[in-house]
Amino acid sequence: MDRIRIVGGNRLTGTIPISGAKNAALPLMIASLLTRETLTLDNVPRLADVAMLKRILGNHGVDCMVLGKRAGQNGMHGESIELRAGDIVDTLAPYDLVSRMRASFWVIGPLLARMGEAKVSLPGGCAIGTRPVDFFIDALKALGADIDIEAGYVLAKAPKGLRGARIVFPKVTVGATHVALMAASLAKGESVIENAACEPEIADLAACLNKMGARIAGAGTSTIRIEGVDRLGAARHSVMPDRIEAGTYAFAAAMTGGDVLLDAATAATMETPIEVLRRIGAEVTPTNAGIRVTRNGGAIAPVDVTTEPFPGFATDLQAQLMALVSRADGDSHIRETIFENRFMHVQELARLGADIHLDGQVATVRGVAKLKGAEVMATDLRASVSLVIAGLAAEGETVVNRVYHLDRGFERIEDKLGGLGAEIERLTG
Ligand code: EPZ
Repeated sequence: MDRIRIVGGNRLTGTIPISGAKNAALPLMIASLLTRETLTLDNVPRLADVAMLKRILGNHGVDCMVLGKRAGQNGMHGESIELRAGDIVDTLAPYDLVSRMRASFWVIGPLLARMGEAKVSLPGGCAIGTRPVDFFIDALKALGADIDIEAGYVLAKAPKGLRGARIVFPKVTVGATHVALMAASLAKGESVIENAACEPEIADLAACLNKMGARIAGAGTSTIRIEGVDRLGAARHSVMPDRIEAGTYAFAAAMTGGDVLLDAATAATMETPIEVLRRIGAEVTPTNAGIRVTRNGGAIAPVDVTTEPFPGFATDLQAQLMALVSRADGDSHIRETIFENRFMHVQELARLGADIHLDGQVATVRGVAKLKGAEVMATDLRASVSLVIAGLAAEGETVVNRVYHLDRGFERIEDKLGGLGAEIERLTG
């Protein structure tokens, strides 16, 4: 199993390319199930989760072709892929595939809308909390589906098709908003989603669906209106830049000190993390090319931050922030409100010398003068990358085990950080 070895202490300087967003690419790929015509996606990140989803979609009958390289393209640019679901050959998503990646449960929406039926395994356990699927089921029921749960599978049926409805989510949910959007696009009549997730990845999916012929208004706000259409068709869409990857490298730059341009990052999707970085003492300057982050000397100031749905501070950046403030000049408080168990990195950061006290959903991080390298591992990708950030600033050598978690969500992390001057390498085998 691969590991990442880091020798801490180097300042990060230079330009780092930001990839297409994992959490936009996954629903966009799933949207290919809605049409028999070709969906072409550009700027698709090369990630283990993307490869896994290609396999899962292939099982339903989606042909996936990676387009050849274009002039001027190097290995750091995303792929262009064509997805064609000419015929859906199977509406079953089995446990052994769905259990590996929770987002694959989302195929339930397009399969049901296009084929009138779907049998999708419940996603099962997850390292960051229980993560139930009740919001998905209620939304699909509202759209007229009959739903049964049998032997670990959700059986959804709508033989006469789905019909438009008012869907009110009791809590903001990214996944169920994606699914409701896709399903309602092919329902008869108008749907309204209230308390919809406002994450930019929702707006990216809606933009692509509209190019395919859907009629969606309001995506990116908490009320989305969808006028159902009979069919969707071919389209070409470029995956939005990854705001979580960009935020992660911004925190890394603030941690080590230095001067980094996050190439292609968009400030409009990152207002809250940018504001937190400024409070910490980093200088953040949006430019035409991306976002520039600098911190020259000066202490890391402690902060109090609560994770919230967009535009609040993203739970997917919580672990990275914790690594950063582990070296702050004072106490920080980080409250996690999205997932009840997303603190798996706390024990591992402690191995590097961080002083963190957990009380329910609140972590109190007492800044220490220095971290010291150690061998560590983590159980989800954001937790793993927080250990990389800590390792970049720790004295001596840090080895992060179970690198496959990083490969799920960070494209060639060792090359990207190495390009900024970090001493980092992948140890294979
Ligand atoms: C998406 O997960 C992201 N995944 C997560 O990114 C992210 O952490 C999360 O949104 C929150 O921003 C992808 O986009 C692929 P939710 P999702 O439904 O859709 C509860 C990463 O590291 N809930 O918004 O699964 C749920 O338990 C990941 O890239 C129910 O109770 O999250 C949670 O407390 C991990 N019932 C809250 O809602 C349901 O039916 C929000 O979850 C659904 C969700």
